[in-house]
Amino acid sequence: MHIIKLSAIDSTNDYLKDLCAGSNPENFTVVSAETQTKGRGQMGTTWLTEPGKNLIMSLLIKEVLSEINQIFLLNAVVATAITQALKTYDIPELSIKWPNDILSANKKIGGILIENSIRNDGKIVSIVGIGLNVNQTEFQNLPKASSLFLATGKILDKNEILEAIVNAIMDKVSILQFHPESIWEDYNSQLFRKNTPSAFEDADGNRFMGMVHGVTADGRLQLLLEDDSEKHFGIKEISMLY
Ligand code: BTN
Repeated sequence: MHIIKLSAIDSTNDYLKDLCAGSNPENFTVVSAETQTKGRGQMGTTWLTEPGKNLIMSLLIKEVLSEINQIFLLNAVVATAITQALKTYDIPELSIKWPNDILSANKKIGGILIENSIRNDGKIVSIVGIGLNVNQTEFQNLPKASSLFLATGKILDKNEILEAIVNAIMDKVSILQFHPESIWEDYNSQLFRKNTPSAFEDADGNRFMGMVHGVTADGRLQLLLEDDSEKHFGIKEISMLY
């Protein structure tokens, strides 16, 4: 495993992207940092971390995906690899909240930001950013955030977790080409509030009830609505209220 360990950086995703622009790092190169000054989250949000406490990492995956429609499959690979790596730590009620938040009970303990670009030869290069709250004890003004410490009462080794996650991702990438259905099954079986009536809000602020059935291969959330119809939603179209 080729790991570049940094103390502080703006964003490990940006560092790895710049590295790829100036050189040809090997597949599965990892960049980790003790802290980030401009950590980025999904949909233009900021990812905050207490220095030294959490897992902050980016992983390069190239020469794996060749079609743009496989992009959500990589999200599923990474999310299920994280939950698999965490299984040995007895985290209560571990689940994946669509599209790729990692939850313990109803609190977010980790997030994933995958940034893809297409090379001239058509291959997709993915920078897989992972933020996992490991030993942080306080989350001011973030009532829905938690950490592995708060969930288990144990201080955990973030380097050990990093290795377990990268190994699980590499294993799953090797089955991605031949058995994508097993990755979907695994991902869909771990969805937060699956088959449980839940409240949602659409982009216009309308609230409604629905039940998560699963996620389509292109990453849309399948909801069973109150009139028994099934509707699919994209990431910008809906949020779950919980
Ligand atoms: C989310 O919003 O849930 C995704 C958070 C992803 C954060 C990680 S931390 C390492 C990598 N570098 C970044 O700037 N973001 C990702």
